[in-house]
Amino acid sequence: MAASHHQRHLILLVLFLAAATASAHNITAVLDGMPEYTLYNSYLSETKVCDEINSRSTVTCLVLTNGAMSSLVSNLSLADIKNALRLLTLLDYYDEKKLHSLHSGSELTTTLYQTTGDAAGNMGHVNITNLRGGKVAFASAAPGAKFQSTYTKRIKEEPYNLSVLEVSDPITFPGLFGSPSAASANLTGLLEKAGCKQFARLIVSSGVIKMYQVAMDKALTLFAPNDEAFKAKDLPDLNKLTSADLVALLQYHALPQYAPKASLKVAKGDIPTLASNGAGKYDLSVVSKGDDVSLDTGVDKSRVASTVLDDTPTVIHTVDSVLLPRELFGGAPSPAPGPGPVGDVPAAAPAPEASAPAPSPKAAGKKKKKAKSPSHSPPAPPADSPDVAPADAPAGDEADNADTKKNGATAAVMTFAATVASFALAVAPFL
Ligand SMILES: *[C@@H]1O[C@H](CO)[C@@H](O)[C@H](O)[C@H]1NC(C)=O
Ligand SMILES: *[C@@H]1O[C@H](CO)[C@@H](O)[C@H](O)[C@H]1NC(C)=O
Ligand SMILES: *[C@@H]1O[C@H](CO)[C@@H](O)[C@H](O)[C@H]1NC(C)=O
Ligand SMILES: *[C@@H]1O[C@H](CO)[C@@H](O)[C@H](O)[C@H]1NC(C)=O
Ligand SMILES: *[C@@H]1O[C@H](CO)[C@@H](O)[C@H](O)[C@H]1NC(C)=O
Repeated sequence: MAASHHQRHLILLVLFLAAATASAHNITAVLDGMPEYTLYNSYLSETKVCDEINSRSTVTCLVLTNGAMSSLVSNLSLADIKNALRLLTLLDYYDEKKLHSLHSGSELTTTLYQTTGDAAGNMGHVNITNLRGGKVAFASAAPGAKFQSTYTKRIKEEPYNLSVLEVSDPITFPGLFGSPSAASANLTGLLEKAGCKQFARLIVSSGVIKMYQVAMDKALTLFAPNDEAFKAKDLPDLNKLTSADLVALLQYHALPQYAPKASLKVAKGDIPTLASNGAGKYDLSVVSKGDDVSLDTGVDKSRVASTVLDDTPTVIHTVDSVLLPRELFGGAPSPAPGPGPVGDVPAAAPAPEASAPAPSPKAAGKKKKKAKSPSHSPPAPPADSPDVAPADAPAGDEADNADTKKNGATAAVMTFAATVASFALAVAPFL
Protein backbone atom coordinates (compact mmCIF):
# COMPACT_ATOMS: atom_id res chain seq x y z
CA MET A 1 0.00 0.00 0.00
CA ALA A 2 2.68 2.45 1.07
CA ALA A 3 4.74 1.49 -1.94
CA SER A 4 1.89 2.15 -4.32
CA HIS A 5 1.37 5.62 -2.85
CA HIS A 6 5.02 6.38 -3.27
CA GLN A 7 4.90 5.10 -6.82
CA ARG A 8 1.88 7.16 -7.60
CA HIS A 9 3.47 10.32 -6.31
CA LEU A 10 6.73 9.58 -8.03
CA ILE A 11 4.90 9.02 -11.30
CA LEU A 12 3.21 12.39 -10.89
CA LEU A 13 6.55 13.94 -10.09
CA VAL A 14 8.13 12.44 -13.20
CA LEU A 15 5.17 13.57 -15.28
CA PHE A 16 5.52 17.07 -13.90
CA LEU A 17 9.24 17.23 -14.65
CA ALA A 18 8.73 15.75 -18.11
CA ALA A 19 6.07 18.35 -18.83
CA ALA A 20 8.29 21.11 -17.51
CA THR A 21 11.17 20.19 -19.80
CA ALA A 22 8.99 19.34 -22.80
CA SER A 23 7.44 22.79 -23.13
CA ALA A 24 10.67 24.32 -24.31
CA HIS A 25 8.81 26.13 -27.07
CA ASN A 26 5.29 27.01 -28.05
CA ILE A 27 4.82 27.20 -31.80
CA THR A 28 1.34 28.69 -31.42
CA ALA A 29 2.78 31.60 -29.43
CA VAL A 30 5.60 32.09 -31.94
CA LEU A 31 3.11 32.57 -34.79
CA ASP A 32 0.60 34.57 -32.77
CA GLY A 33 0.35 38.11 -34.07
CA MET A 34 1.66 37.22 -37.54
CA PRO A 35 -1.39 37.80 -39.73
CA GLU A 36 0.02 36.02 -42.81
CA TYR A 37 0.12 32.67 -40.98
CA THR A 38 -3.16 32.68 -39.07
CA LEU A 39 -4.67 29.84 -41.11
CA TYR A 40 -1.65 27.58 -40.64
CA ASN A 41 -1.61 28.42 -36.94
CA SER A 42 -5.29 27.75 -36.40
CA TYR A 43 -5.09 24.36 -38.14
CA LEU A 44 -2.05 23.54 -36.02
CA SER A 45 -4.21 24.07 -32.92
CA GLU A 46 -7.33 22.42 -34.26
CA THR A 47 -5.49 19.22 -35.24
CA LYS A 48 -3.26 19.48 -32.15
CA VAL A 49 -0.16 19.05 -34.27
CA CYS A 50 1.09 21.92 -32.07
CA ASP A 51 1.31 19.43 -29.17
CA GLU A 52 3.46 17.13 -31.31
CA ILE A 53 5.71 20.04 -32.32
CA ASN A 54 6.06 21.40 -28.79
CA SER A 55 7.04 18.01 -27.43
CA ARG A 56 10.09 17.88 -29.72
CA SER A 57 13.26 19.53 -28.49
CA THR A 58 14.69 19.91 -32.01
CA VAL A 59 12.29 20.79 -34.77
CA THR A 60 11.89 22.85 -37.96
CA CYS A 61 8.43 24.03 -38.97
CA LEU A 62 7.80 24.78 -42.63
CA VAL A 63 4.96 27.26 -42.56
CA LEU A 64 2.47 28.09 -45.31
CA THR A 65 1.00 31.53 -45.87
CA ASN A 66 -2.77 31.94 -45.72
CA GLY A 67 -2.94 31.76 -49.51
CA ALA A 68 -1.07 28.46 -49.82
CA MET A 69 -2.88 27.09 -46.80
CA SER A 70 -6.35 27.86 -48.10
CA SER A 71 -5.78 26.04 -51.37
CA LEU A 72 -4.40 23.07 -49.44
CA VAL A 73 -7.36 22.76 -47.09
CA SER A 74 -10.14 23.52 -49.57
CA ASN A 75 -10.91 19.90 -50.28
CA LEU A 76 -9.39 17.93 -47.43
CA SER A 77 -10.66 16.34 -44.24
CA LEU A 78 -8.96 17.40 -41.01
CA ALA A 79 -7.37 13.95 -40.92
CA ASP A 80 -5.60 14.71 -44.20
CA ILE A 81 -4.73 18.28 -43.20
CA LYS A 82 -3.16 16.90 -40.05
CA ASN A 83 -0.90 14.63 -42.08
CA ALA A 84 0.04 17.49 -44.43
CA LEU A 85 1.06 19.59 -41.42
CA ARG A 86 3.10 16.72 -40.04
CA LEU A 87 4.97 16.29 -43.33
CA LEU A 88 5.88 19.98 -43.09
CA THR A 89 7.49 19.43 -39.68
CA LEU A 90 11.14 18.33 -39.86
CA LEU A 91 12.65 16.59 -36.84
CA ASP A 92 15.98 18.37 -37.15
CA TYR A 93 17.19 21.92 -37.00
CA TYR A 94 17.47 23.72 -40.36
CA ASP A 95 17.99 27.45 -40.45
CA GLU A 96 18.60 29.49 -43.57
CA LYS A 97 22.34 29.06 -43.38
CA LYS A 98 22.16 25.29 -43.06
CA LEU A 99 19.65 25.03 -45.92
CA HIS A 100 22.04 26.79 -48.27
CA SER A 101 25.04 24.69 -47.35
CA LEU A 102 23.88 21.08 -47.55
CA HIS A 103 26.86 18.80 -47.90
CA SER A 104 26.30 17.12 -51.22
CA GLY A 105 23.60 19.49 -52.34
CA SER A 106 20.79 17.45 -50.79
CA GLU A 107 19.80 15.80 -47.56
CA LEU A 108 17.12 13.43 -46.37
CA THR A 109 15.37 14.27 -43.11
CA THR A 110 12.63 12.71 -40.96
CA THR A 111 9.29 14.40 -40.37
CA LEU A 112 6.53 14.09 -37.79
CA TYR A 113 4.54 12.14 -40.38
CA GLN A 114 7.11 9.33 -40.16
CA THR A 115 6.33 9.01 -36.45
CA THR A 116 2.63 8.29 -36.99
CA GLY A 117 3.15 4.74 -38.15
CA ASP A 118 1.04 5.56 -41.23
CA ALA A 119 4.07 6.23 -43.38
CA ALA A 120 4.99 3.24 -45.48
CA GLY A 121 8.71 2.94 -46.22
CA ASN A 122 10.33 6.36 -46.17
CA MET A 123 7.27 8.34 -47.21
CA GLY A 124 7.61 10.27 -43.99
CA HIS A 125 11.01 11.55 -45.07
CA VAL A 126 11.68 14.76 -46.91
CA ASN A 127 14.45 15.40 -49.41
CA ILE A 128 15.91 18.91 -49.17
CA THR A 129 17.77 19.90 -52.30
CA ASN A 130 19.81 22.95 -53.34
CA LEU A 131 18.60 23.88 -56.80
CA ARG A 132 20.48 26.02 -59.24
CA GLY A 133 20.24 29.75 -58.60
CA GLY A 134 20.42 29.38 -54.83
CA LYS A 135 16.91 28.03 -54.42
CA VAL A 136 16.18 25.41 -51.79
CA ALA A 137 13.39 22.94 -52.49
CA PHE A 138 11.58 20.25 -50.51
CA ALA A 139 9.97 17.04 -51.72
CA SER A 140 8.71 13.87 -50.16
CA ALA A 141 11.17 11.00 -50.44
CA ALA A 142 8.33 8.92 -51.90
CA PRO A 143 8.91 7.83 -55.50
CA GLY A 144 7.64 10.31 -58.06
CA ALA A 145 7.28 13.21 -55.63
CA LYS A 146 7.93 16.67 -57.07
CA PHE A 147 10.02 19.54 -55.72
CA GLN A 148 7.08 21.92 -55.68
CA SER A 149 7.79 23.45 -52.28
CA THR A 150 10.57 26.04 -52.04
CA TYR A 151 12.04 28.01 -49.17
CA THR A 152 10.88 31.64 -49.14
CA LYS A 153 11.92 33.24 -45.86
CA ARG A 154 12.84 32.82 -42.25
CA ILE A 155 10.29 33.51 -39.54
CA LYS A 156 12.11 32.57 -36.34
CA GLU A 157 15.37 30.85 -35.43
CA GLU A 158 16.23 29.55 -31.97
CA PRO A 159 19.46 27.62 -32.53
CA TYR A 160 19.50 24.65 -32.33
CA ASN A 161 16.03 23.86 -31.05
CA LEU A 162 13.39 25.56 -33.11
CA SER A 163 13.46 26.95 -36.62
CA VAL A 164 10.36 28.38 -38.26
CA LEU A 165 10.59 28.93 -42.00
CA GLU A 166 8.11 29.99 -44.65
CA VAL A 167 7.77 27.79 -47.74
CA SER A 168 5.83 28.31 -50.96
CA ASP A 169 3.77 25.12 -51.13
CA PRO A 170 2.81 22.00 -49.21
CA ILE A 171 4.89 18.84 -49.51
CA THR A 172 2.76 16.01 -50.83
CA PHE A 173 3.01 12.68 -52.58
CA PRO A 174 0.46 10.45 -54.29
CA GLY A 175 -1.38 8.60 -51.53
CA LEU A 176 -0.76 11.10 -48.73
CA PHE A 177 -4.42 12.03 -48.67
CA GLY A 178 -7.39 9.73 -48.20
CA SER A 179 -6.93 8.57 -44.62
CA PRO A 180 -10.22 7.50 -43.04
CA SER A 181 -12.38 10.48 -42.15
CA ALA A 182 -14.98 10.53 -39.42
CA ALA A 183 -17.68 11.60 -41.84
CA SER A 184 -17.22 8.61 -44.11
CA ALA A 185 -16.34 6.19 -41.32
CA ASN A 186 -18.44 3.21 -40.45
CA LEU A 187 -17.51 2.98 -36.78
CA THR A 188 -18.15 -0.74 -36.38
CA GLY A 189 -16.44 -1.48 -39.69
CA LEU A 190 -13.35 0.49 -38.62
CA LEU A 191 -13.24 -1.22 -35.22
CA GLU A 192 -13.60 -4.68 -36.73
CA LYS A 193 -10.81 -3.99 -39.18
CA ALA A 194 -8.61 -2.80 -36.32
CA GLY A 195 -9.05 -6.09 -34.41
CA CYS A 196 -11.71 -4.86 -31.98
CA LYS A 197 -14.62 -7.10 -32.99
CA GLN A 198 -15.73 -7.88 -29.47
CA PHE A 199 -15.83 -4.21 -28.48
CA ALA A 200 -17.72 -3.37 -31.69
CA ARG A 201 -20.29 -6.04 -30.82
CA LEU A 202 -20.73 -4.72 -27.28
CA ILE A 203 -21.27 -1.10 -28.32
CA VAL A 204 -23.86 -2.16 -30.87
CA SER A 205 -25.75 -4.57 -28.59
CA SER A 206 -25.79 -2.08 -25.70
CA GLY A 207 -26.73 0.85 -27.93
CA VAL A 208 -23.77 2.88 -26.66
CA ILE A 209 -22.64 3.37 -30.26
CA LYS A 210 -25.40 5.97 -30.56
CA MET A 211 -23.94 7.95 -27.66
CA TYR A 212 -20.54 7.83 -29.33
CA GLN A 213 -22.01 9.03 -32.60
CA VAL A 214 -23.72 11.97 -30.90
CA ALA A 215 -20.45 12.85 -29.14
CA MET A 216 -18.53 12.68 -32.44
CA ASP A 217 -20.17 15.91 -33.57
CA LYS A 218 -18.58 17.81 -30.71
CA ALA A 219 -15.50 15.86 -29.69
CA LEU A 220 -14.78 12.22 -28.99
CA THR A 221 -11.78 10.15 -28.04
CA LEU A 222 -12.49 6.45 -28.05
CA PHE A 223 -10.33 3.77 -26.42
CA ALA A 224 -11.26 0.48 -28.04
CA PRO A 225 -9.87 -2.63 -26.32
CA ASN A 226 -8.64 -5.16 -28.86
CA ASP A 227 -9.95 -8.72 -28.98
CA GLU A 228 -6.96 -10.01 -26.99
CA ALA A 229 -8.00 -7.71 -24.14
CA PHE A 230 -11.31 -9.53 -23.81
CA LYS A 231 -9.49 -12.86 -23.51
CA ALA A 232 -7.36 -11.75 -20.55
CA LYS A 233 -7.51 -14.35 -17.76
CA ASP A 234 -8.05 -11.84 -14.97
CA LEU A 235 -10.82 -9.97 -16.76
CA PRO A 236 -13.97 -9.96 -14.60
CA ASP A 237 -17.01 -11.59 -16.18
CA LEU A 238 -18.65 -8.70 -18.01
CA ASN A 239 -21.79 -10.78 -18.56
CA LYS A 240 -22.51 -10.34 -14.85
CA LEU A 241 -22.80 -6.59 -15.18
CA THR A 242 -26.26 -5.07 -15.12
CA SER A 243 -27.06 -3.32 -18.36
CA ALA A 244 -26.70 0.08 -16.64
CA ASP A 245 -23.22 -0.89 -15.46
CA LEU A 246 -22.28 -2.20 -18.89
CA VAL A 247 -23.31 1.14 -20.38
CA ALA A 248 -21.21 2.94 -17.76
CA LEU A 249 -18.26 0.65 -18.56
CA LEU A 250 -18.49 1.40 -22.28
CA GLN A 251 -18.95 5.13 -21.70
CA TYR A 252 -15.84 4.94 -19.55
CA HIS A 253 -13.93 4.01 -22.73
CA ALA A 254 -14.56 7.43 -24.27
CA LEU A 255 -13.63 11.03 -23.52
CA PRO A 256 -15.79 14.03 -24.43
CA GLN A 257 -12.76 15.77 -25.94
CA TYR A 258 -10.34 15.41 -28.83
CA ALA A 259 -7.19 13.79 -27.45
CA PRO A 260 -4.77 12.34 -29.98
CA LYS A 261 -1.75 10.55 -28.55
CA ALA A 262 0.48 13.64 -28.43
CA SER A 263 -2.16 15.42 -26.34
CA LEU A 264 -2.66 12.44 -24.03
CA LYS A 265 1.09 12.49 -23.45
CA VAL A 266 0.92 15.98 -21.96
CA ALA A 267 -2.37 15.40 -20.13
CA LYS A 268 -2.20 16.00 -16.41
CA GLY A 269 -4.40 14.94 -13.55
CA ASP A 270 -7.72 13.16 -13.76
CA ILE A 271 -9.53 13.17 -17.07
CA PRO A 272 -13.30 12.91 -17.20
CA THR A 273 -14.84 10.24 -19.44
CA LEU A 274 -18.31 10.01 -20.95
CA ALA A 275 -19.30 8.11 -17.81
CA SER A 276 -18.14 10.88 -15.48
CA ASN A 277 -20.77 12.88 -13.68
CA GLY A 278 -18.67 15.83 -12.61
CA ALA A 279 -17.99 14.51 -9.13
CA GLY A 280 -14.62 13.05 -9.98
CA LYS A 281 -16.08 9.63 -10.61
CA TYR A 282 -15.24 7.47 -13.61
CA ASP A 283 -12.13 9.55 -14.29
CA LEU A 284 -8.96 8.25 -15.91
CA SER A 285 -5.39 9.32 -15.60
CA VAL A 286 -2.57 9.07 -18.10
CA VAL A 287 0.90 7.74 -17.49
CA SER A 288 3.43 8.36 -20.23
CA LYS A 289 7.02 7.36 -20.65
CA GLY A 290 8.80 8.34 -23.81
CA ASP A 291 6.45 7.52 -26.64
CA ASP A 292 4.51 5.01 -24.54
CA VAL A 293 1.16 6.19 -23.23
CA SER A 294 -0.94 4.19 -20.75
CA LEU A 295 -4.25 4.83 -19.08
CA ASP A 296 -4.57 4.24 -15.36
CA THR A 297 -8.06 3.53 -14.06
CA GLY A 298 -6.97 3.00 -10.47
CA VAL A 299 -7.74 -0.69 -10.93
CA ASP A 300 -5.70 -1.50 -14.02
CA LYS A 301 -3.41 0.05 -16.59
CA SER A 302 -3.83 -0.20 -20.30
CA ARG A 303 -1.41 0.75 -23.03
CA VAL A 304 -2.63 2.93 -25.87
CA ALA A 305 -1.60 0.77 -28.82
CA SER A 306 -2.49 2.35 -32.15
CA THR A 307 -4.60 5.07 -33.67
CA VAL A 308 -7.35 3.84 -35.96
CA LEU A 309 -8.90 7.17 -36.91
CA ASP A 310 -7.73 10.71 -36.28
CA ASP A 311 -10.03 13.27 -37.82
CA THR A 312 -10.52 16.29 -35.58
CA PRO A 313 -12.55 16.29 -33.36
CA THR A 314 -12.73 12.49 -33.36
CA VAL A 315 -9.92 10.11 -32.56
CA ILE A 316 -10.06 6.36 -32.05
CA HIS A 317 -7.25 4.51 -30.30
CA THR A 318 -6.95 0.82 -29.60
CA VAL A 319 -5.90 -0.23 -26.09
CA ASP A 320 -4.41 -3.48 -24.80
CA SER A 321 -6.75 -4.01 -21.85
CA VAL A 322 -10.35 -3.40 -20.95
CA LEU A 323 -10.46 -0.26 -18.78
CA LEU A 324 -11.89 -1.23 -15.40
CA PRO A 325 -13.29 1.76 -13.51
CA ARG A 326 -12.85 1.58 -9.76
CA GLU A 327 -16.50 2.51 -9.34
CA LEU A 328 -17.40 -0.92 -10.76
CA PHE A 329 -14.34 -3.04 -10.03
CA GLY A 330 -12.44 -1.29 -7.26
CA GLY A 331 -13.96 -3.20 -4.37
CA ALA A 332 -14.02 -6.95 -4.10
CA PRO A 333 -11.23 -9.00 -5.68
CA SER A 334 -13.86 -10.98 -7.58
CA PRO A 335 -16.19 -8.21 -8.64
CA ALA A 336 -19.89 -8.75 -8.42
CA PRO A 337 -21.00 -5.17 -8.73
CA GLY A 338 -24.55 -5.90 -7.62
CA PRO A 339 -27.54 -3.77 -8.51
CA GLY A 340 -26.51 -0.94 -6.21
CA PRO A 341 -26.40 2.65 -7.44
CA VAL A 342 -23.96 3.05 -10.28
CA GLY A 343 -20.72 4.71 -9.35
CA ASP A 344 -20.64 4.08 -5.61
CA VAL A 345 -17.30 3.11 -4.22
CA PRO A 346 -17.85 -0.08 -2.25
CA ALA A 347 -17.95 0.96 1.37
CA ALA A 348 -14.62 0.88 3.12
CA ALA A 349 -14.42 -0.36 6.66
CA PRO A 350 -15.43 2.58 8.83
CA ALA A 351 -13.39 5.32 10.34
CA PRO A 352 -9.75 4.82 11.01
CA GLU A 353 -10.25 8.49 11.88
CA ALA A 354 -11.44 7.63 15.38
CA SER A 355 -8.01 6.39 16.36
CA ALA A 356 -6.01 8.51 13.98
CA PRO A 357 -3.97 11.55 14.99
CA ALA A 358 -4.90 14.97 13.66
CA PRO A 359 -4.19 15.15 9.94
CA SER A 360 -0.58 16.00 9.22
CA PRO A 361 0.21 18.62 6.59
CA LYS A 362 0.74 15.78 4.17
CA ALA A 363 -2.70 14.36 4.92
CA ALA A 364 -4.10 17.80 4.19
CA GLY A 365 -2.36 17.69 0.85
CA LYS A 366 -3.97 14.38 0.21
CA LYS A 367 -7.38 15.67 1.17
CA LYS A 368 -6.93 18.37 -1.37
CA LYS A 369 -6.12 15.78 -3.94
CA LYS A 370 -9.32 13.95 -3.17
CA ALA A 371 -11.32 17.11 -2.87
CA LYS A 372 -13.08 16.32 -6.12
CA SER A 373 -14.85 13.43 -4.46
CA PRO A 374 -17.98 14.56 -2.69
CA SER A 375 -17.45 11.87 -0.13
CA HIS A 376 -16.64 12.96 3.40
CA SER A 377 -16.26 9.37 4.46
CA PRO A 378 -12.89 7.86 5.37
CA PRO A 379 -10.45 7.63 2.54
CA ALA A 380 -11.64 4.88 0.27
CA PRO A 381 -9.06 2.16 -0.17
CA PRO A 382 -7.01 3.69 -2.94
CA ALA A 383 -8.06 1.44 -5.73
CA ASP A 384 -4.72 1.47 -7.45
CA SER A 385 -3.79 -1.78 -5.78
CA PRO A 386 -6.62 -4.26 -6.00
CA ASP A 387 -4.24 -7.01 -4.95
CA VAL A 388 -3.89 -5.65 -1.45
CA ALA A 389 -5.76 -7.59 1.18
CA PRO A 390 -8.87 -5.68 2.25
CA ALA A 391 -7.71 -5.69 5.88
CA ASP A 392 -4.86 -3.37 4.92
CA ALA A 393 -7.08 -0.93 3.22
CA PRO A 394 -8.40 1.40 5.94
CA ALA A 395 -4.95 1.75 7.45
CA GLY A 396 -3.47 2.96 4.19
CA ASP A 397 -2.92 6.65 4.72
CA GLU A 398 -1.97 6.32 8.35
CA ALA A 399 0.56 3.65 7.49
CA ASP A 400 1.97 6.08 4.97
CA ASN A 401 2.21 8.78 7.59
CA ALA A 402 4.04 6.47 9.92
CA ASP A 403 6.42 5.59 7.14
CA THR A 404 7.19 9.17 6.33
CA LYS A 405 7.68 10.12 9.96
CA LYS A 406 10.29 7.42 10.20
CA ASN A 407 12.13 8.79 7.27
CA GLY A 408 12.73 12.51 6.99
CA ALA A 409 14.11 12.38 3.49
CA THR A 410 11.12 10.47 2.22
CA ALA A 411 8.85 12.93 3.99
CA ALA A 412 10.43 15.83 2.14
CA VAL A 413 10.03 14.05 -1.18
CA MET A 414 6.48 13.14 -0.34
CA THR A 415 5.60 16.70 0.61
CA PHE A 416 7.03 17.91 -2.66
CA ALA A 417 5.22 15.10 -4.47
CA ALA A 418 1.97 16.13 -2.79
CA THR A 419 2.55 19.70 -3.95
CA VAL A 420 3.19 18.43 -7.44
CA ALA A 421 0.04 16.34 -7.22
CA SER A 422 -1.99 19.39 -6.23
CA PHE A 423 -0.38 21.31 -9.05
CA ALA A 424 -1.28 18.54 -11.48
CA LEU A 425 -4.87 18.73 -10.27
CA ALA A 426 -4.93 22.46 -10.51
CA VAL A 427 -3.89 22.41 -14.16
CA ALA A 428 -6.03 19.42 -15.09
CA PRO A 429 -8.89 21.56 -16.38
CA PHE A 430 -6.54 23.11 -18.91
CA LEU A 431 -5.74 19.79 -20.50
C1 LIG B 1 0.96 28.43 -26.28
O1 LIG B 1 0.60 29.75 -26.52
C2 LIG B 1 -0.80 29.97 -26.69
C3 LIG B 1 -1.03 31.42 -26.98
O2 LIG B 1 -0.30 31.84 -28.05
C4 LIG B 1 -1.55 29.55 -25.46
O3 LIG B 1 -2.93 29.67 -25.68
C5 LIG B 1 -1.22 28.09 -25.15
O4 LIG B 1 -1.83 27.71 -23.95
C6 LIG B 1 0.28 27.89 -25.04
N1 LIG B 1 0.56 26.47 -24.88
C7 LIG B 1 1.34 26.00 -23.94
C8 LIG B 1 1.52 24.52 -23.93
O5 LIG B 1 1.86 26.72 -23.12
C1 LIG C 1 -12.77 18.96 -54.62
O1 LIG C 1 -13.27 17.65 -54.71
C2 LIG C 1 -14.28 17.48 -55.66
C3 LIG C 1 -14.82 16.07 -55.55
O2 LIG C 1 -13.89 15.19 -55.02
C4 LIG C 1 -13.73 17.78 -57.05
O3 LIG C 1 -14.75 17.65 -58.00
C5 LIG C 1 -13.19 19.23 -57.06
O4 LIG C 1 -12.57 19.48 -58.30
C6 LIG C 1 -12.18 19.42 -55.96
N1 LIG C 1 -11.80 20.81 -55.86
C7 LIG C 1 -10.53 21.20 -55.74
C8 LIG C 1 -10.31 22.66 -55.63
O5 LIG C 1 -9.60 20.42 -55.71
C1 LIG D 1 17.06 14.08 -53.35
O1 LIG D 1 16.44 14.09 -54.61
C2 LIG D 1 17.32 14.30 -55.71
C3 LIG D 1 16.48 14.40 -56.96
O2 LIG D 1 15.64 13.32 -57.10
C4 LIG D 1 18.31 13.16 -55.77
O3 LIG D 1 19.23 13.38 -56.84
C5 LIG D 1 19.07 13.10 -54.47
O4 LIG D 1 19.93 11.97 -54.47
C6 LIG D 1 18.12 13.00 -53.28
N1 LIG D 1 18.88 13.13 -52.08
C7 LIG D 1 18.90 12.21 -51.11
C8 LIG D 1 19.79 12.51 -49.94
O5 LIG D 1 18.23 11.19 -51.17
C1 LIG E 1 17.45 24.30 -26.43
O1 LIG E 1 17.15 23.11 -25.74
C2 LIG E 1 18.02 22.85 -24.67
C3 LIG E 1 17.66 21.51 -24.09
O2 LIG E 1 16.51 20.96 -24.64
C4 LIG E 1 17.90 23.96 -23.66
O3 LIG E 1 18.77 23.74 -22.60
C5 LIG E 1 18.21 25.28 -24.31
O4 LIG E 1 18.01 26.35 -23.41
C6 LIG E 1 17.35 25.51 -25.52
N1 LIG E 1 17.76 26.72 -26.22
C7 LIG E 1 16.91 27.68 -26.53
C8 LIG E 1 17.51 28.85 -27.26
O5 LIG E 1 15.73 27.62 -26.25
C1 LIG F 1 -20.74 -1.05 -41.11
O1 LIG F 1 -19.90 -2.18 -41.17
C2 LIG F 1 -20.48 -3.36 -40.62
C3 LIG F 1 -19.45 -4.45 -40.60
O2 LIG F 1 -18.37 -4.21 -41.43
C4 LIG F 1 -21.71 -3.74 -41.44
O3 LIG F 1 -22.31 -4.88 -40.91
C5 LIG F 1 -22.69 -2.57 -41.40
O4 LIG F 1 -23.79 -2.84 -42.24
C6 LIG F 1 -22.03 -1.29 -41.86
N1 LIG F 1 -22.94 -0.17 -41.63
C7 LIG F 1 -23.17 0.77 -42.53
C8 LIG F 1 -24.12 1.85 -42.13
O5 LIG F 1 -22.66 0.76 -43.63
